Amino acid sequence: TLFKKTSKTIGLIVPDISNPFFPELVRAVEDVMNIYDYTVILCNSDEKNEKEKEYMEVLKQKYVDGIILTTNQLELDEVSEINVPVVVLDRPLNHSFPSVIADNYGGARLATRHLYEIGCRRIAHIQGPSHVVNAVERFNGYRDEMKELGLWDERLVILGNYQLKQAKEAVLQALKEYDIDGIFAGNDAMAVGALKAVQQLGLRVPEDVAIIGYDGIPLTEMTTPELSTISQPIYEMGAIAARILVKKIEGKPLEQIHYVLPVELIERQSTRKGE
Ligand code: RIB
Repeated sequence: TLFKKTSKTIGLIVPDISNPFFPELVRAVEDVMNIYDYTVILCNSDEKNEKEKEYMEVLKQKYVDGIILTTNQLELDEVSEINVPVVVLDRPLNHSFPSVIADNYGGARLATRHLYEIGCRRIAHIQGPSHVVNAVERFNGYRDEMKELGLWDERLVILGNYQLKQAKEAVLQALKEYDIDGIFAGNDAMAVGALKAVQQLGLRVPEDVAIIGYDGIPLTEMTTPELSTISQPIYEMGAIAARILVKKIEGKPLEQIHYVLPVELIERQSTRKGE
């Protein structure tokens, strides 16, 4: 008889733990895995394909029982070689692995529509990195909503990389070049960067420029004004992914393979005009 070597550990690959979205996600995975007596090995890929591949190798050598992937730099043939159960989390991957993501396209439409409803007409979007599928889906949602409203103008698309500092610089530049009265940022870190930029130019939020972010991280409640956001069920996403992985490892059947969780509009001061 062949015995499969097990280690009661799993690997969790995230892009960047210093982005405040990820600590809550990681926490949820760890909490649930601990209930089932698994230890979690955390790896940061820094959005780099090379680092992801190296980590996959290391995890294999450590005989992890499964992997949760929150990243999509890997090529399809690279992921197909993995011979332990895999669950895809947060960032969709074009593969048949079980997946837990949130409604990126719908959330982006909701954010854009909200800015329109409070009176914004020149709505800019700070897009996340173009290799990240959920950033592209959020862009698509923004674009389709803008087209439906008859407001689409491609010059209002600002390129971001999900990081605060870069977004601040990009928004400073955009505000100097174009007339903008609303900003939908592809994540909350970039919304904070946008807020900084707008205030640095002596403009008021939300009166001159309204801002909404995406993720629902605690930092959005700490800024002045507080930031509106599209909140993702971050903890729940991580917890569901972990439960699915345990079932896969134990060879149990899954009730559902692909989850797309709903997101929610949180309205705060940064989009409350007339107050
Ligand atoms: O802030 C980080 C972003 O990357 C989040 O919006 C999350 O969904 C992730 O993919």
